[in-house]
Amino acid sequence: MFPTDRPRRLRRTPALRQLVAETTLAPDDLVAPLFVVEGLDEPRPIASLAGQLQHTVESLVREVGVLRELGVGGVILFGVPATKDEVGSGAYDPDGIVQVALRAVRDEVGDDLVVMADLCLDEYTSHGHCGIVREDGTVDNDSTLALYARTAVEQARAGAAVVAPSGMMDGQVGAIRRALDDGGFADTVILAYAAKYASGLYGPFRDAVDVEIADGGDRRGYQQDWRNRREALREARADVAEGADIVMVKPAMTYLDVLSDLRRELDVPLSAYHVSGEYAMVKAAAANGWVDGPAVALEQLTAVRRAGADFVLTYFAHEVARVLQR
Ligand code: PBG
Repeated sequence: MFPTDRPRRLRRTPALRQLVAETTLAPDDLVAPLFVVEGLDEPRPIASLAGQLQHTVESLVREVGVLRELGVGGVILFGVPATKDEVGSGAYDPDGIVQVALRAVRDEVGDDLVVMADLCLDEYTSHGHCGIVREDGTVDNDSTLALYARTAVEQARAGAAVVAPSGMMDGQVGAIRRALDDGGFADTVILAYAAKYASGLYGPFRDAVDVEIADGGDRRGYQQDWRNRREALREARADVAEGADIVMVKPAMTYLDVLSDLRRELDVPLSAYHVSGEYAMVKAAAANGWVDGPAVALEQLTAVRRAGADFVLTYFAHEVARVLQR
């Protein structure tokens, strides 16, 4: 018996493979997360995120300029304030570090690439939680919403084209949309971290933003339980109903089923966050010579697109954009 179906025919040459490829990955499918630290004199390497830096405003602006030349689709900024407090006031201070950085970046690149701001309080709170902490240690949803709303308006005023709420409070998208509209920022886009899991993969990020959750705590009281798949659809539908323009799944590689579900069920643009731990694992294995780092990065990011994401937030943006340009 001879096989009649011969899929290998289409794999014979690179040109054939390219012609029939179902999924593409281009620099403009990538968004680079960048960290900017208040009061820093020199950019500082982040040990657990090889190749990534805590930026000064100046080095941040330079890096965004390079990413623009590489054709990267966007950047998302995370601020690390010089001082933190119980209510995360640095997040909504008009002269807070992210607001200062947004103004500087927009001055440099305008709308050439999409300038986003992560919208949360955890980088700014002394206890490291994403909102207001009650006496009993739990995070209070509704009083936190008012602070997210203020933060959104300050970020938009400073030049964020997109605000990306990542705190997983119920009703956060609606509260932010109303505040933006009332503040005269009806054109500011909301990218909602809709299905954000209480993942073990955020470790290096917390080094990057100098966050330690108080009393050995965690975020399981507000981020999603990673045993749940259906719940992601419920979260994402709620966000779309409240006005999310784009929704996100986070992390990426362990949630491709969720991405695929959301792609099928929703008609808004969909993104995924290939998070710090995912990046660090590839980098660490590559540094040991155990895997080919750029090849694995390309495979993972393309898989995220294949599962349904229109674009990917990734620390590989710079490196992979260079590879793709060749
Ligand atoms: C919250 C936020 C986190 C990340 C992005 N936004 C941390 C958290 O929820 O603990 C993690 C991103 C990463 O790991 O790359 N502001």
